[in-house]
Amino acid sequence: FDAIDVIRAKRDGGVLEPAQIDWVVDAYTRGVVAEEQMSALAMAIFLNGMEREEISRWTAAMIASGERMSFDALSRPTADKHSTGGVGDKITLPLAPLVATFGVAVPQLSGRGLGHTGGTLDKLEAIPGWRAALSNEEMMAQLEEVGAVICAAGSGLAPADKKLYALRDVTGTVEAIPLIASSIMSKKIAEGTAALVLDVKTGAGAFMTEEADSRELARTMVDLGTDAGVATVALLTDMSAPLGRTVGNALEVRESVEVLAGGGPADVVELTVALAREMLASAGRTDVDVEAALADGRAMDTWKAMIAAQGGDPDAALPVAAHTEELRAEADGVVAGLDAMKVGVAGWRLGAGRSRPGEAVQAGAGVEIHRHIGEEVRAGDLLAVLHTDTPERFGRAREAIDGAWDLAAPGTAVPARRIVLDR
Ligand code: URA
Repeated sequence: FDAIDVIRAKRDGGVLEPAQIDWVVDAYTRGVVAEEQMSALAMAIFLNGMEREEISRWTAAMIASGERMSFDALSRPTADKHSTGGVGDKITLPLAPLVATFGVAVPQLSGRGLGHTGGTLDKLEAIPGWRAALSNEEMMAQLEEVGAVICAAGSGLAPADKKLYALRDVTGTVEAIPLIASSIMSKKIAEGTAALVLDVKTGAGAFMTEEADSRELARTMVDLGTDAGVATVALLTDMSAPLGRTVGNALEVRESVEVLAGGGPADVVELTVALAREMLASAGRTDVDVEAALADGRAMDTWKAMIAAQGGDPDAALPVAAHTEELRAEADGVVAGLDAMKVGVAGWRLGAGRSRPGEAVQAGAGVEIHRHIGEEVRAGDLLAVLHTDTPERFGRAREAIDGAWDLAAPGTAVPARRIVLDR
């Protein structure tokens, strides 16, 4: 095989042969196909798409690039969830311990922030002492003892995706259905979970902003999982506005702990409960009262055990940013919309995310939202508080968040926000 032939075939709108796909993914992982060749191929895939058979084969080749794990030795059934990425999406934090409370093992192999979207590992690292890197043995032991683990994927799992993902991030080729679907599903299938619930985001703050594209992504991933023997379900959920009232690492941990204490914002609770029900049902548990486990502290107990098992102090004070600035309303009105992308970019610029690979994030940085959709505002009211350790960042964050609140005339009836749009 020759990389140039494979690139030309896709560039000209052709369908890649299975053997071509196997070869190019393997050769790229081994460094035989160069980064510039794979970036040309990724752009050709971005522009010309892939047939369903090509996506399946590409996913299989990415799985074959590394190890496959198995949870068969566990005494509990397993269920996992994956979000396609959003703003204020801290759902994994309350969800994993909540589901584990009912005897289902939740192996959450999570990632770091990408662009304007936050990363679960970055959030948890705001907790003093907590560590993301576990060996496979440590992970298995924690799943057996605590039931929930949130950790970094080991380097052996789908190494082709690790390389390709980093390449896509810097070549403008992230937002392509074949590439997102194969990236997510190769990791999930290689991980070996029996059941998977996908949270596919749609709207301004999602990678797929159009609902039709989000639906196609969901359908593609469900088909890939089902074909691989993983019981896979997708929820299509709203990401036009941020989830909850906090965006940023420690700020989101604090809000997640509120949910685990039986409180927290209604949208975060609604999505956590909806995803927990799907995960539990896919593991055969339909007879459980999910809300009760949030209200009576059982999920909180599992959270504390999960954090402590990874070296974290669940009772320690969370870091706070050294500087804050307020954002106030200029007019009266009612919040009809809150742009997730604008808020996400502001949080990123305040230091909650990275501007270069490998950069350290600020634990305390982010945006605290004081007026969300449906709420009345008077001129001068607090809309948000911006947090950062590096006050020179306030200017660009303010530029990013400018216009994020869409204020309708006072008294306008704003329809209640729907979080779960479809299943
Ligand atoms: N998350 C992933 O793991 N991969 C993608 O391509 C997009 C989101």
